[in-house]
Amino acid sequence: MPFASIRYLLLATAFASLPAAAVDLEKGKEINGTCAACHGEFGGGGKKGEYPRIAGQQVKHLESQLKSFRARTRVNIPMFPYTQERELSDEDIKDVSAYLAGIELPTKMPEFKGHEDALTRLQMVEKVMIIPRAEGDIEQGGKLYQKQCASCHGKAGKGRGMFPMLVGQYTNYLKRQVDLFLKADRPHDEEGTVGVLNGLKEKDIQDILAYLTSIQEPKE
Ligand code: HEC
Ligand code: HEC
Repeated sequence: MPFASIRYLLLATAFASLPAAAVDLEKGKEINGTCAACHGEFGGGGKKGEYPRIAGQQVKHLESQLKSFRARTRVNIPMFPYTQERELSDEDIKDVSAYLAGIELPTKMPEFKGHEDALTRLQMVEKVMIIPRAEGDIEQGGKLYQKQCASCHGKAGKGRGMFPMLVGQYTNYLKRQVDLFLKADRPHDEEGTVGVLNGLKEKDIQDILAYLTSIQEPKE
């Protein structure tokens, strides 16, 4: 019965695309009020990457990082008090992660239509996030990235599922994380010091970081 099974399939996919437990985006926004002190109102981060961008990041990555801060498997001293059980339950983590993942930060200055008020205009400009070009050999970095990183972080660097977005993140922050991975202070793709990053030279990493700043959309 091909028709019946197609109908069943359509129904099944319709249900599958519903979130497992309803997330409360309003609650997420409210929780983000606490995060904003460091990561900014729209999750754009700040202090040149001392506080990473968390807006538009993969939801699974946000959830897993918050859980590992709480469990102290990823050390984050400034954030530890906020992630304590009392502060962030599993449900709160779901809500704030979904809220943050849904924030889009444009990479070009907005074109005003003329009817926006001053506050709206200010907010539109504040949301723009462009990472300055990092120095390095973009062509070489591109080759390395597509060969060694794209399988997990995606061809365009946007990440997917548990694999975080790298494009649009502060170069300083990414560099600091690579250093932590190399020292095995934070697990990357493999436990310890045998992962993909450990096979790269310092220049390779710089070239990859330069490449990542060159593929922000739209291309300049
Ligand atoms: C007191 C400052 C502070 C507050 C408040 C804070 N954070 Fe952070 N957060 C940090 C710092 C610093 C880092 C980077 C740690 C590092 O370099 O490894 C970070 C990292 C993160 C990361 C990891 C990003 C990545 O891509 O790996 C996530 C996710 C995050 N914060 C979410 C939140 C959320 C959600 C809240 C609110 C519930 C919050 N933070 C509140 C300072 C803060
Ligand atoms: C096998 C899959 C895989 C490959 C290949 C891979 N990564 Fe990752 N990467 C991950 C995972 C998983 C994480 C998140 C780790 C965690 O949960 O803390 C990550 C996190 C990162 C982060 C930290 C991002 C953040 O927001 O905290 C950086 C930087 C990074 N990877 C760079 C690279 C580079 C550069 C390459 C290529 C040389 C690469 N990765 C290849 C799986 C991979």
